[in-house]
Amino acid sequence: MSEIAIIGGTGLTNVEGLKILRREMVKTPYGNPSGPLVMGELDGRAVTFLARHGQRHSIPPHRVNYCANLWALHSVGIRRVIAVAAVGGIAAECTPGMLVIPDQIIDYTVGRQSTYFDEAPERVVHIDFSYPYSENLRQALISGAQAAGVGVIGSGVYGATQGPRLETAAEIKRMARDECTVVGMTGMPEAALARELELEYACCGVVVNPAAGLTEKPLDMDEIAAMVATGMGHARAAILQTLATLS
Ligand code: HPA
Repeated sequence: MSEIAIIGGTGLTNVEGLKILRREMVKTPYGNPSGPLVMGELDGRAVTFLARHGQRHSIPPHRVNYCANLWALHSVGIRRVIAVAAVGGIAAECTPGMLVIPDQIIDYTVGRQSTYFDEAPERVVHIDFSYPYSENLRQALISGAQAAGVGVIGSGVYGATQGPRLETAAEIKRMARDECTVVGMTGMPEAALARELELEYACCGVVVNPAAGLTEKPLDMDEIAAMVATGMGHARAAILQTLATLS
């Protein structure tokens, strides 16, 4: 039984090399997760995989059922979650192809179901979210990336935007003033829900473009798609090494 899950983002709808043993569609009180949990072995290590945007990459970031996804993973015994996510680079060192393992989050999303402690709770529940990611898992990812020889930045602020549109140049300027290092559309409420379920959770951000307004020319979707393919290769290499250190 695996205790470790990988949530794959854009460009990672399946994990190359994953020997699939079982697929399980888990029903949750929050509805259906993005797809079946894919249980298998990666390099001999048990892992469970879930494609955040569905297996056909058809669920946009604001429509992902984050509550069902995390609940489903928790219900089958997952204790640690590596969340892979394509991001735009805001800080100068976050060039396409780099991995960023953030240690902080700013949430700019709106209207997403962002807590399990919602309906008629017996008492109001607040979780400590000062440090939103698991430091153990973050360090394992940083070491894994280094062992894989992949460029990695070991801290930073993940700015979570609503999407699905990319940001305006002014929004990115504001996020830079807020000290966001990278920008992505799926980091929240995923991280907060993981904390509510007491899962160890860390994000492996894959920089696939400079954020809006940071380069002379407009963002080119074909260039981003090409970088997603390269960057996800880096993430996979880093995660293989990470799994080796975790088990
Ligand atoms: N902004 C938001 N989300 C993203 C980006 C971006 O520039 N690139 C990849 N995901």
